Order: sequence, then structure tokens, then C-alpha cells
Amino acid sequence: MAIGSREGAAPELLTVRDWLRWTASQLARAELHFGHGTDSAWDEAVALVLGWLRVPEDRAEVLLDARLTRQEAAALAACVAQRIEERVPVPYLTGLARFAGLEFEVDSRVLIPRSPMAELLLAGLQPWLGERQPRMILDLATGCGCIGIAAAMAFPEAEVVLADIDAAALDVARRNVRRHGLEDRVRVVASDLFAGLTDETFDVILSNPPYVDPEDLANMPEEFRHEPMAALAGGGADGLELVQQLLQAAPGHLAADGLLLLEVGNSAPALLIREPRLPWLWPELEAGGFGVGIIDRGDLVAGLRQG
Ligand SMILES: C[S@@+](CC[C@H](N)C(=O)[O-])C[C@H]1O[C@@H](n2cnc3c(N)ncnc32)[C@H](O)[C@@H]1O
Repeated sequence: MAIGSREGAAPELLTVRDWLRWTASQLARAELHFGHGTDSAWDEAVALVLGWLRVPEDRAEVLLDARLTRQEAAALAACVAQRIEERVPVPYLTGLARFAGLEFEVDSRVLIPRSPMAELLLAGLQPWLGERQPRMILDLATGCGCIGIAAAMAFPEAEVVLADIDAAALDVARRNVRRHGLEDRVRVVASDLFAGLTDETFDVILSNPPYVDPEDLANMPEEFRHEPMAALAGGGADGLELVQQLLQAAPGHLAADGLLLLEVGNSAPALLIREPRLPWLWPELEAGGFGVGIIDRGDLVAGLRQG
């Protein structure tokens, strides 16, 4: 059955409840990959239907029996078709993604937020930060700004810089800074790694840079191919060329007792081969994974010197 209009979907679909049920059934049958903020057809249907209709999930109950207009129904059916036939991730269809309990605007110019760093930020970077009160925080390779903006929320006294090489990503980051009313203490800077941050020093550097290696890139589910390649491919046979440059330059931009949090995901074993003497801490994440390394400036400098 063609799904591109309300009639095509089925004219009897009238209410939000009908659309949730139908969308969930369609998605469940389609053998999709769920890796962009949801892990089941049902959660994905909720994110798509309520997100596209701009109905807050915590108030959906009162609107379940509200009917969609014909135009809404046709447009939503078209989104379901795009999700299934083209494998477009839901956040690119709704323009919204959630990260660390916050809502972010996204489009295909930025990676869809999913870093496990959210969990660490929600814990106020404890116990790794200890008594230290970060005054200056950098989110390097910021994309839509999600990590830096979540850091600004976690540390209300801190000034935060969001840096990225890509002007299009920075447009999205700026929109998110405005959305969260953080213009007074969150700055958006165009920068190739630290090149645009000369003389700036930070108490905490957070980074989820591109780090995917060619093998993982070749085997990615179709959904990830809608994301910008420059946000995924880290360069080199192990995906860690850019990470290596970042590590070499980071000590020059970290305060004496500064902390670096670096996401390298599946490339963590390769990082241990490249830089065997760096004493990373790898927090166990409830969300799973072994992908975020934490290191003090002192350990970074000492480890790199020996390497
Ligand atoms: C994996 S995405 C992370 C986006 C965001 N931090 C997140 O977690 O959703 C990596 C980002 O790094 C940016 N990037 C790639 N090369 C860079 C470079 N040399 N300097 C700064 N940013 C870079 C890309 O434009 C992209 O936005």
C-alpha cells in the first residue's frame, strides 16, 4: 500500500491515537535501525507523531482523541513514508531531538545528538570533577551545540564556548543557544580544532569529534548515511587522525588542573593502541558503551611526552 497521503495510509485514521497506532505498526514491520534517540518502533512512532505535531509528550494524553486535519494527515503520512522508504532518521523529519533532558533543533547539517556524555553532564561530571568549579568550558566539534548547552545547564556559573569547523553546523548551534536563552554566556566560534581559540584556556574541554573508521563507515545502517560525513569520518585507517591532533593541541588550551572528556566510541581500543601511555578513565555508562575517556591535563601532558 502506498503511504503518501491520508487516503493512501487509510482514510479511517483520524485521531492522534489512530496515527500513533498505525505509525507504530508500519515502523515495526519495516525492519528499521533504531539508533537516533529511540530503540523501538513504538518509541519511534511517539517521537515522530507527537514531535511532528508539536504535542509535548507529557501532555499527549489529553489530545489522543483530537483529529488531524487533512493537510496534517497527508504530511505525516509522507514523513512515515520517508522514514520507511528512505530510512531518514526521525529527528530530521520532526526537526527536533532530545539530549540530556533538553530539546534541540536539528536538521541534516548536523549529527543527531546521542553522545553518552549526556549521562556524565547530568551527574555534574561527578566524581571526576570533584571540588573544581569550572568557569570556562569548551565544547569542541559542537554540531548542534547539544553537549555545550547541556554543560551550560549543568554549570550555571560557567561561560561556555561552542566551536566547530562547519559554518552550517554553527548556524544550528546558534539557534539552539537562542532557544535555551543562553546568549549571555554561551559563545559560538568557528574553529578548526583550536585554531580559532588562540590564547583561550578552559577548565573543562568536552569533545565528540568525528572518529568513525572506514570499516565502521562502510557497515553503517542506512539511517546514518543521512548524517554529514564530515561529522562521522575521523580520518586515517583507525578513524583517529583528527583525535590525535586534538590530543596534541589540548594541553595548550587546558587550565593547569583542567579536565578533558573525549568521546571515541568504538574507536576506543584503537586509541589505546595509538596512545598506549595515556591513563584514561573510562566511566561505565548506564546507557552502555565504553566510549568516553576522561583525563586530567597533567596526565595528558605526561602521557603524550612519553609516547
Ligand atoms: C560527531 S559530530 C558531534 C556533534 C555534537 N557534538 C554531538 O555530539 O552531537 C562532530 C562535529 O565535528 C565537527 N568537525 C569536524 N572536523 C572538525 C575540526 N577540524 N574542527 C572542529 N570541528 C570539526 C563536524 O562539523 C561535526 O559537527
